[in-house]
Amino acid sequence: MSSPTPSASPPVLRAVYGIDVPPGRPLDADEVATAYPWPEGTWVRAMMVTTLDGAAAGPDGLSGSVSSTADRAVFDAVRRFADAVLVGSHTLRAEEYSPMRAKPADAERRRAAGQLPAPTLAVVSGSLDLPWELPVWAESAQRPLVLTGAGADAGRLAAAREHAEVVVLPEVSPRGIVDALAGCGLPRIVCEGGPNLLRDLVAARMVDEADITVSPVFAGTGQSPTTAVLPEVVRADLVHLLAADGFLMARYLIGPR
Ligand SMILES: NC(=O)c1ccc[n+]([C@@H]2O[C@H](COP(=O)([O-])OP(=O)(O)OC[C@H]3O[C@@H](n4cnc5c(N)ncnc54)[C@H](OP(=O)(O)O)[C@@H]3O)[C@@H](O)[C@H]2O)c1
Repeated sequence: MSSPTPSASPPVLRAVYGIDVPPGRPLDADEVATAYPWPEGTWVRAMMVTTLDGAAAGPDGLSGSVSSTADRAVFDAVRRFADAVLVGSHTLRAEEYSPMRAKPADAERRRAAGQLPAPTLAVVSGSLDLPWELPVWAESAQRPLVLTGAGADAGRLAAAREHAEVVVLPEVSPRGIVDALAGCGLPRIVCEGGPNLLRDLVAARMVDEADITVSPVFAGTGQSPTTAVLPEVVRADLVHLLAADGFLMARYLIGPR
């Protein structure tokens, strides 16, 4: 059985479909980033890894145990020129997000393009029961954003404002989240999960693109994403497919909102 354990050497990503490079030639990091362009205006892409049995995490409850260096290379390529990295509070806590920073060359390219030097972390939470001990709050290039609702507890709101820029929405709807980020000058949004936040964004037709990695493992965790809130399936069109070490990295576009 293939192992998801990351190897020490850099991944060799090859185009299987939809990218015009000579057959068999590996893609370099810039070519991978170019394969995930950011269109003008507000654009929401979902970035997730799924196992062969539809789980979003391995037996340890984390996505890293079903990921790989190849999957991570695509993840990093998408982040390089994103404005906002959007996550639900459970993902932030489970995955213990690290500070958001960019390599100096990428920070320079971002500045030249009118972007902030690194992506801004944006966390959705109604409860505001967040892991304030993580270095991500104080050590990111930009102060992270927390998006919450008008019903948030006043004491927790005050605590949140010590660590983050807090955006209080009348209600925390998918459209409210996306509009708030765009209104903060962060229109290029990559939602890194988790499945619950992604489900709500898809149900509200707020996702333009899905960048999905299929991991060559069965997790047996029964954490399949649910589409129970959708009246019918939302179809996506395959744009390209990359492969490395048994992992498949697919880019799909979803129809207009
Ligand atoms: N396979 C992958 O690529 C991947 C990616 C990410 C995460 N994961 C895994 O997925 C799991 C976490 O995902 P999850 O689906 O359980 O949780 P999640 O979507 O990360 O977070 C859910 C939480 O986000 C907040 N939230 C979301 N929508 C909201 C709304 N409309 N209004 C108010 N708050 C809202 C709430 O926070 P409060 O409870 O604070 O109010 C809610 O409890 C972990 O095991 C993680 O490792 C996997």
